[in-house]
Amino acid sequence: MVQATSFLLLLSLALLAPGLSAKQCMLTGRWINDLGSNMTIGAVNNKGEFIGSYLTAVTASSNEIRMSPLHGMQNIINKKSEPTFGFTVNWSFSESTTVFTGQCFIDKNGKEVLKTMWLLRSNVDGIDNDWKATMVGNNVFTRLRTRKE
Ligand code: BTN
Repeated sequence: MVQATSFLLLLSLALLAPGLSAKQCMLTGRWINDLGSNMTIGAVNNKGEFIGSYLTAVTASSNEIRMSPLHGMQNIINKKSEPTFGFTVNWSFSESTTVFTGQCFIDKNGKEVLKTMWLLRSNVDGIDNDWKATMVGNNVFTRLRTRKE
């Protein structure tokens, strides 16, 4: 009788445990940030690497905005449910480069959110202008929902 009870207890734990595990925050998909910029991140491979595309809503240049490629890596040590990551956007329409670093969080409503900070490096004329070449800021990304969802 005791054995049967223990077995049933173990069985119910095994069945319930997966549901108790923390939701995994995933980078793959379409995102929009607080400036209205859109980005799409492709599959994250087994080394944590990913590529994607970025359409900024704003620019520090006077050029026409175009879609730009991004290359990044997610930290895969310990397979955390809220992983850190970094990516670089190599702007197609300006001579600048932006690096983003951040963490993928599950907020209190169960929604995924990317909290990031960035450095935007402009191309300046000569080393004497290096001091004014870098801007810093932060962006918050949420999933871009399609009308079907
Ligand atoms: C440039 O202006 O030379 C390239 C575009 C830079 C856009 C910046 S990157 C940081 C910030 N977050 C965005 O989504 N866009 C701006």
